[in-house]
Amino acid sequence: MSNKMEEQKAAREEIKKLVEDYYNRFLKTDKNEFSEGDRIPYAGRVFDEKEVTNLVDSALDFWLTAGRYTDEFETRFAQLLGVKYASLVNSGSSANLIAFMALTARELGDRQIKRGDEVITVACGFPTTIAPIMQYGAIPVFVDVAVPQYNIDVTQLEKALSSKTKAVMIAHTLGNPFDLKAVKEFCEKHNLWLVEDNCDSLGSEYTIDGETRYTGTWGDIGTSSFYPPHHITMGEGGCVYTNNALLNKLIKSYRDWGRDCVCPPGKDNFCGRRFDGQFGQLPVGYDHKYVYSHLGYNLKATDMQAAVGCAQLDKLVSFADARRANWERLKNNLQDLQDVLTLPEPAEGSRPSWFGFIISVRENCGVSRNDITKALEAHNIQTRLLFSGNIIKHPCFDEFRDTDAYRVVSDLKATDYIMNNTFWIGVYPGLSDEKIDYMAKVIKEALGR
Ligand SMILES: Cc1ncc(COP(=O)(O)O)c(C=O)c1O
Repeated sequence: MSNKMEEQKAAREEIKKLVEDYYNRFLKTDKNEFSEGDRIPYAGRVFDEKEVTNLVDSALDFWLTAGRYTDEFETRFAQLLGVKYASLVNSGSSANLIAFMALTARELGDRQIKRGDEVITVACGFPTTIAPIMQYGAIPVFVDVAVPQYNIDVTQLEKALSSKTKAVMIAHTLGNPFDLKAVKEFCEKHNLWLVEDNCDSLGSEYTIDGETRYTGTWGDIGTSSFYPPHHITMGEGGCVYTNNALLNKLIKSYRDWGRDCVCPPGKDNFCGRRFDGQFGQLPVGYDHKYVYSHLGYNLKATDMQAAVGCAQLDKLVSFADARRANWERLKNNLQDLQDVLTLPEPAEGSRPSWFGFIISVRENCGVSRNDITKALEAHNIQTRLLFSGNIIKHPCFDEFRDTDAYRVVSDLKATDYIMNNTFWIGVYPGLSDEKIDYMAKVIKEALGR
């Protein structure tokens, strides 16, 4: 090693020690420190000195765009989930956009999703699961969901099918897998793509015919979000993953400006054929770096985000365990309230890595959902609704309502019920038993118990 390299290594070590010290003095928190009235968030980032030192290490590289940490994250994330290919992106919404757009590529032949084609989904969920479908000009077909799993009602799938159906694109709600067995069988029977929005379910497991896999890896493409409340975080971030080599190529192309070339950032002539191809109507030998096979985006993340993600990956399994333990404790605490509250149930064949604890307040029981959420918030306990409730009721649908921009299968009774009666609270690893018990106590008090 040259003198300069040795000096650099030593300087990094020195900085690392200082950063660790800074973390211990100013950033470290103790989840067990709690007095009634302290803020209890529904979720939040959980990290130690490793995330901070990785971030600084990446800053010292000053590479800024995708680099060594991105490579490490993509490789380890794919290994952990048991998929062949993972592409890091800048958010879960970007992951959904790319997952969908990859399926619109002409390379997919008669399975290409074209404008006017239909994609089966649900109206009860996060808007950016369905936004890419409509932005492109395909038609979302909304199927109702079922309580207490809050996932697609699979008995409605056949009714939703038409000659234009090309895909099913849905999320696993708050960590609880949808009926993957039924949905996968339906997709296979009708030759449809399955996109699993796994943004709220990283680490959830699902078993079909004795085979257990992580959610997000059963369908054709899975997506993740690494926004702070999610199972792991890098601030902003997301991932798109698949076992299909062609889909992986399309995902990378749509992420990276739509380009044909697969050179990593900062590397030229990776394929060794930079100047000898002929594409479209371009002249022979047109620089492959500037050949565009799709109308794409730039949705890449930075290496600093990936550096934080690498440290978080080591914690994913323990985070999922902590989420499960917190969920169980809340459920035990609330068991006696089932005359007024509908408590969540895991899907059959699943081992959820819960995102939250979802509760519906029974209608006409004398207390409303808002009575309880107001009581919780008044005690500094953060609450959330099931995202959009019913996306069709939102202002973003004003211009589409009752047009053929979307289709609804029968009524959305359970979706509307959830919009009116459902909320959720946190189970994230930053919660202690004491905080969980306090949340349950406040709910009981709000119900006069
Ligand atoms: C189910 C689901 N899909 C997609 C997203 C979007 O992720 P992001 O916030 O990283 O864009 C979210 C956000 O929480 C989500 O809950």
